[in-house]
Amino acid sequence: MFEIKAKDNRARVGVLKTNHGNIKTPNLMPVIHPKKQVIDVKECGADIVITNAYLIYKDPELKQKAIDKGLHNLINFNGPIMTDSGSFQLSVYGDIDITNKEIIEFQNLIKTDIGTSLDIPTAPFVNREKAEKDLKITLNRAKEAVDYKRSTNMGMALNSVVQGSTFLDLRRKCGAELTKLNADLYPIGAVVPLMESYNYADLVDIVMNSVAYLPDNKSRHLMGAGHPMVFSLCVAMGCDLFDSAAYVLYAEDDRLLSTRGTFKLENLKEMPCSCEVCSNYTPDELREMSKKERTKLIAKHNLYVSFAELRLIRQAIYDGNLMELVEERCRVHPQLLNAYRQLTNYYEDLEKYDPRSKKSAFFYTGPESLLRSEVKRHLKKLRKMPKKRDLVILPPSRKPYSKYLSGKLGEFYVYGSENEIDLDKTDFMVLDIPFGLIPLEIDEIYPLGQNESPKNRDADSLEFLKDILFEFIKYYDQVLIHSKIIKDLNIDLYDKHPQSNEIRYLKNDLKKIKAIADYQFGIGSGSALFSGDDINIEKSKKTGKIRHVFDGKVPIVNMRASDSYLILSKEGAKRLHAHMEYPKNRIVVNEDSVPFVRDGKSVFSKFVVDTDENIRTNDEVLIVSEDDKLLGFGKSLLSAHEIHDFNTGQAIKTRKGIKKEEE
Ligand code: GUN
Ligand code: ZN
Repeated sequence: MFEIKAKDNRARVGVLKTNHGNIKTPNLMPVIHPKKQVIDVKECGADIVITNAYLIYKDPELKQKAIDKGLHNLINFNGPIMTDSGSFQLSVYGDIDITNKEIIEFQNLIKTDIGTSLDIPTAPFVNREKAEKDLKITLNRAKEAVDYKRSTNMGMALNSVVQGSTFLDLRRKCGAELTKLNADLYPIGAVVPLMESYNYADLVDIVMNSVAYLPDNKSRHLMGAGHPMVFSLCVAMGCDLFDSAAYVLYAEDDRLLSTRGTFKLENLKEMPCSCEVCSNYTPDELREMSKKERTKLIAKHNLYVSFAELRLIRQAIYDGNLMELVEERCRVHPQLLNAYRQLTNYYEDLEKYDPRSKKSAFFYTGPESLLRSEVKRHLKKLRKMPKKRDLVILPPSRKPYSKYLSGKLGEFYVYGSENEIDLDKTDFMVLDIPFGLIPLEIDEIYPLGQNESPKNRDADSLEFLKDILFEFIKYYDQVLIHSKIIKDLNIDLYDKHPQSNEIRYLKNDLKKIKAIADYQFGIGSGSALFSGDDINIEKSKKTGKIRHVFDGKVPIVNMRASDSYLILSKEGAKRLHAHMEYPKNRIVVNEDSVPFVRDGKSVFSKFVVDTDENIRTNDEVLIVSEDDKLLGFGKSLLSAHEIHDFNTGQAIKTRKGIKKEEE
């Protein structure tokens, strides 16, 4: 039912397939009241809507019409419709007179596209006993609904809602239990009170723990989230669908939604956007209108800004700069900034999903950028890289640093023992924001060469640089720190004295490609790929950048111009396979797909039986059989986690197959 088209951190652009057509996600479902529709939501950009099956069931006239003519006729919408079950009425009125089975059956009867079981929306901050008791009922009803749907072959898709109040372990447990049921979609429930009180930090904890064990191949709906101000943050956490009664409820209250917050009409001197409503009316004109007419226009504006934000979000995911958008949006309210900071605690979970290479450069937009998954990923890798005896630390120059930093490098201070400078025993790194330390050999790899930060450092950045510097000093025998760094960071090294030797960085292409291979494929890959006596490196005449590497005349790798990652050739794949132990860099496919891969066909997720868990979107990978025979190589379209969860769609775009006789 769900396919991923593009990703950024935990966010995904996807396609949700329903009986009434496919819709793009992330998307917003305007709430339609079955009896009073204020505006034509389709005209404002709605692809899918949500309505309440319980309200229809309770009203004899609506009920009969829905049964006779179907839900789509009743609310006059011919696209996909989701229905809610009455759980919300349950949470407000405490009791409703319908059973779980009855509401499931009714939703299917009126031909909704996606129905919902009767979950219990347990409010935030209840006591544990209550949360556990409610959760048990929610889980039982979810199971009952799934079983009922299966045994009666229902055509509608089914929501199973994650509950658990503010107990994060209960949220995780609920996600894991619901995953076993293999429902069609997974909404996250009972977050409305948190949003109403601007408690976005707890919202982050709840969403991140709710999605932690949900499958990646199903869409997730954040129930009751309808304010465009929070969309980007929630999308970054893996939410695919939102629903909004806000557009009309706020309109009835003369409030206009915007990504910068909410505006009260009584305070407006200027209209807040460029939509049809804002372009054609002034605040005074709106104030003078009849209530009914005004509500319609404000509701329209509210939907226009919501859909505009979702378009922007989807484009940002395609471009790979969603987090910059989130950082921008979260600066409109301190509680949102607090929530974004809370999200940075989950960088390991975000990193697992983040593509290795993206179209956009990494932009530093403030101290929180230092906590992004790309930075954490680099520092983790850097800590594991083999280290030489000595380290030279340089201040940043223009990028790529190695181009502008070769030759004589200026004055240094020595930390640690005093060795004779020996280039074979020395690492050269630049100390910079946001990636901390960047070895000169790998300074062109994405995102180490594709990023920008302001030259005027903030206090957090200076602290960050100091922390990294002092950490890495410990890993080396002798460290030579450029005098500009000592001055800029205002640091005092008790063991410092000026170094009189002239220090130079000499570019060495062989060292460079080996370092890139080690960084990209794991330590040891560099010598596995480039150990012959006759390694030839061919560069672009125009840019001077490395393009191809051969052993004699046999191609080993190409270097991609956009991000400097290595693309394997057949020989490169064979060498990597021979020297990197199982399961490193591997995608393991089942018996049946062996001939297809050898033939150069792409790999579908359902044929993958195992993977190196470090594989991320856009990684170059080896494709092997269950007995580790090399079948081909290609580019991963998903991360290891997602490949495990998906049963449909491509996982690997095969570059070349390797025939049995070529092995
Ligand atoms: N609408 C808003 N929150 C919820 C929830 O927790 N459950 C259901 N079913 N609908 C909702
Ligand atoms: Zn507007």
